[in-house]
Amino acid sequence: MDVERVFHMKEGLGETSYAKNSSMQKKVLDMVKHLTMDAILDLYLTQTPQRISIADLGCSSGPNTLSVIREIVGAVDERCCEILQPTPEFQVFLNDLSTNDFNSIFLSLPEFYSKLRKEGRREDSLSVFIAGVPGSFYGRLFPSNSLHFIHSSFSLHWLSQVPLGLFGEDGKPINKGKMYISETSPCKVIDAYFMQFQEDFMLFLKSRSEELVSEGRMVLILLGRRSRDHTDRASAFYWDLLAEAFAGMVSLGEVEQDEVDSYNVHFYAPCMEEIKGIVQREGSFTIECLEIFEIGRNDTNGVRDGKSMAMAVRAIQESLIRHHFGERIIDRLFERYGEILDKELAKEEIKVASLIVVLRKSS
Ligand SMILES: C[S@@+](CC[C@H](N)C(=O)[O-])C[C@H]1O[C@@H](n2cnc3c(N)ncnc32)[C@H](O)[C@@H]1O
Repeated sequence: MDVERVFHMKEGLGETSYAKNSSMQKKVLDMVKHLTMDAILDLYLTQTPQRISIADLGCSSGPNTLSVIREIVGAVDERCCEILQPTPEFQVFLNDLSTNDFNSIFLSLPEFYSKLRKEGRREDSLSVFIAGVPGSFYGRLFPSNSLHFIHSSFSLHWLSQVPLGLFGEDGKPINKGKMYISETSPCKVIDAYFMQFQEDFMLFLKSRSEELVSEGRMVLILLGRRSRDHTDRASAFYWDLLAEAFAGMVSLGEVEQDEVDSYNVHFYAPCMEEIKGIVQREGSFTIECLEIFEIGRNDTNGVRDGKSMAMAVRAIQESLIRHHFGERIIDRLFERYGEILDKELAKEEIKVASLIVVLRKSS
């Protein structure tokens, strides 16, 4: 499957949309906000450009992307007022794969500009110019030396493809019954995932290093592992339980075992040491900050934990599952998944780990 052509978060504003099921991501964005703001202010104060070019890579649809942009613009505006400097113009590029629901973001722009006007500290309004940029961030998206600041949240754990090494020379799947690294996966599965991540993340860094101005900054937030252990419960938990929901459907004859065996996610949760090693090997950036943040249950609006977690995973995975298995299993699968998650969460507290890395382009 060409994942970059199929993969997209659930569009629109409906009950199953990403817009309505991305509060966990928002919680983490709020937790790391001080680091994001430190990075943009540090960049602004050392370069004082008249126009700041910013890109949010993997912006998706829903409120998160514009909320980050509003905070960035607000922080720079506030600092400019304090130091009695004119606020720069902002050129903002929102990037995602071409299958993304860009229209929903564009439809919310009038509300974005109206909030910005209310929050602005000056008589004259802020100049923020927003454009959508479709395409994969595993490759060039912008002209050389054209960006000052790059933000990317919850996107870089998505690989450019399902690792080819998950299939043997005979084309048969080697990670049967599972869809990601699990305790029972052969070592080759771990190797295949890690190799794909290294290749993709290297390409990402190389592409961004060409696009950023000297000393430009990047704030990258992605799901990760707490330790080098690849079967770290927090990163494997969701996929293990989704595999369990599929196994139940196989036993009821609702899905074929072969279909499950050949389904793997194009996902990899790295640990801090892996990120550090790849950044150092690629060589274009210095690490200003590398931290891990953990959050507990996603109890959204009083909805049961399991159900809200299942909805969050559905908003992310539905396009791929629908493509591989067909439409008919979706509701039943995620109902089952929610029930399994509820049972497991009653037994153990699972904390989701996110990594934040702030990088400065070397001059
Ligand atoms: C979980 S969403 C994150 C959205 C938003 N940044 C947030 O924090 O809520 C991940 C997004 O990354 C996008 N994405 C994944 N791989 C990508 C790629 N290679 N190039 C551009 N966007 C990609 C997906 O399409 C999806 O919209």
